[in-house]
Amino acid sequence: MPELKTVNKRYYVTTPIYYVNDVPHIGHAYTTIAADILARRNRLSGNEVFFLTGTDEHGQKVEKAAREKARSPKDHADLMVKNFKELWKKLVISEHSFIRTTDIEHIKTVQGLLQLLWDRGEIEKRQYAGWYCTPDERFWTEKDLVEGKCPDCGRQVDQIQEENYFFLMSKYQERLIAHIRENSSYVMPETRRNEVLGFLNNNDLGDLCISRPKHRLAWGIPLPFDDNFVTYVWFDALVNYFSATRYLTPQAEQARRGDFWWPASLHIIGKDILTTHAVYWSTMLMALNMPLPRTIFAHGWWTVEGKKMSKSVGNVVNPLTLVDTYGIDAFRYYLFREVPFGLDGDFSEDAMVNRINTDLANDLGNLLSRFLTMAEKYTDGVIDCQGEAGAAVGQSTAELAGDSETVIDELLEDAYWDALRFNIILERIWDIVRAANNYIARTEPWKLAKNDMGAVHSVLFNIWNALRVTALQVYPFMPGTAVKIWKQLGLNSLTDEVRENGDGGGESPRIFSWNWKPSYAVKVAKDEQLFPRIEKITDKTIDKTTERTKKMTEETSRAGASNVKAGSPEGSTEVPAANLAEMANLISIQDVMKVELKVGLVVSAERVKKSDKLIKMQVDTGELRQVVAGIGKAYTPEELTGKKIVVVTNLQPAKLMGVESQGMLLAATDADGVPVILTTEKDVAQGARIK
Ligand code: MSP
Repeated sequence: MPELKTVNKRYYVTTPIYYVNDVPHIGHAYTTIAADILARRNRLSGNEVFFLTGTDEHGQKVEKAAREKARSPKDHADLMVKNFKELWKKLVISEHSFIRTTDIEHIKTVQGLLQLLWDRGEIEKRQYAGWYCTPDERFWTEKDLVEGKCPDCGRQVDQIQEENYFFLMSKYQERLIAHIRENSSYVMPETRRNEVLGFLNNNDLGDLCISRPKHRLAWGIPLPFDDNFVTYVWFDALVNYFSATRYLTPQAEQARRGDFWWPASLHIIGKDILTTHAVYWSTMLMALNMPLPRTIFAHGWWTVEGKKMSKSVGNVVNPLTLVDTYGIDAFRYYLFREVPFGLDGDFSEDAMVNRINTDLANDLGNLLSRFLTMAEKYTDGVIDCQGEAGAAVGQSTAELAGDSETVIDELLEDAYWDALRFNIILERIWDIVRAANNYIARTEPWKLAKNDMGAVHSVLFNIWNALRVTALQVYPFMPGTAVKIWKQLGLNSLTDEVRENGDGGGESPRIFSWNWKPSYAVKVAKDEQLFPRIEKITDKTIDKTTERTKKMTEETSRAGASNVKAGSPEGSTEVPAANLAEMANLISIQDVMKVELKVGLVVSAERVKKSDKLIKMQVDTGELRQVVAGIGKAYTPEELTGKKIVVVTNLQPAKLMGVESQGMLLAATDADGVPVILTTEKDVAQGARIK
């Protein structure tokens, strides 16, 4: 599908611009992470990337939300925009531009284009009578209505008669049908393309009302040719994709000289806004004589444990809490591995934990840690990148290389990427991971280490290589994890390395290929585990996420609002039950995993001078450390020597009465306030980790 590829090595990807009437949820996170995956992948392939996201700030919905919070629409937007920007940071969204439809440059562009269409006779003023759905800000004809209600949202519609401006959209019906027919990847996926074609083939496209009289809605961009009207919010919003190319691109200067980034390579949207993009935006561009975007891709919707996400049901998933509990990369992985992009998906915390434990902790995490342990044990961490596979492991090595190369070639071919088949891409990457795990099982390096060190070197290099190509492939999805693997493999910076070796150069293989080798000596460096196993979900994070959404909504409600009435929902001081858990400072499993607890043997103990409470101990926790504890009134040094105790070993050292303590001993306090030391129920060797 070459249409999807870059234009002159430039790749321009967009997300929808999000309404600022509410706080962001998992649906917003989903689209933006998808765009980020593509942006990162394209940068890795050496393309120049313009990645645009932003906020949709005009219109009735925003005006209404602001009014309810007793703020001006602009103040309200300023506050809400922060939520989106903070979320993007948390989701490790890479370098992007952020457009706001209240930006003056955007407003001027919208007005410029409207004027152009007006001058060309593409817009007409008409008397109009029709049914209007206020929440959706849309007119409907009598025959559109379903049982007298809005066909989209099922709510009540009002009969309205007024003068308005119309974009003559109907003129472009045939051209649009032809364009979609001739360009198989203009609307994707295929089912959505058929949907749009079906609609266009079976209905007469009307003209599009693109104005709202100011007396009914003041919060919008004034029409340049009639100050009594503001621009319909969708006309304003869709133009963002073009207006951004005039002032937010990586080379704003070039844009000013007319070297634009338009057309976009890809608009990622949700399925609910397909008509506005595939029909309104496409015909607007046709009337403006501007090129159409290469692709509009509509993804599906997330439901939550079987139910549609909605504020009234109270199941709006807040991505922030999930990220805090499970980590950003696990969250990103789950979203794109679990459900084919384009289809609807059901978010389930159990399914997410299952993915983390199997794919991430078991398959990938274990592969890395087993490899590092063996490398440190058998070759002191040194990887011999130049050696040949000896006869003992030749067959297995050839199979691992063959399997990996097949995957690499497939992924470099772009077919999966062009079709945004993220789940298949991840599945294929995991084929390399599994092949590498099988390779360890088949070659049994621990046996080879007894008599064939040449083979050990070779096996370790091949596992190292499988991890290297895996890191490169997972980078767009899980950038943090990729960089951690890369570093532990003893390689220089991943992105620098790709920049320098991305296209090989001369005869040398590209860094993505199986045959690439570093030009420097490599020594691995074991670091923290990638994905600790999650034993069980005690308290469903997902319940807390909905609470967090509520809390954020309340916070943004309070901020800046001066006249919120006591007793109104916003002014309520009642704390919902589930919220108490959060307020009680409950911590996540990851917080617990941060604390390193070990069994320690007290080798010697003595009192700290001038203190009747403090005892200084030399404790063997796998390595010798000095621990000072305030247990001198309950224990004598003699009693302590030879005891097995429990020590926090990753605590910052501190000085107690001038004596350094390199850990903390755990003790309970009995009814009289006397400390009682914790020990293990059966004898366990010193240095054992407590989990
Ligand atoms: N402002 C318009 C877009 C204008 S683009 C020129 C808008 N904003 S929105 O904030 O309501 O929605 C933004 C995106 O979030 C849409 O693509 C929508 O499909 C997506 N999602 C909203 N709920 C969703 C789920 N439950 N699941 C997945 N995506 C969902 O529409």
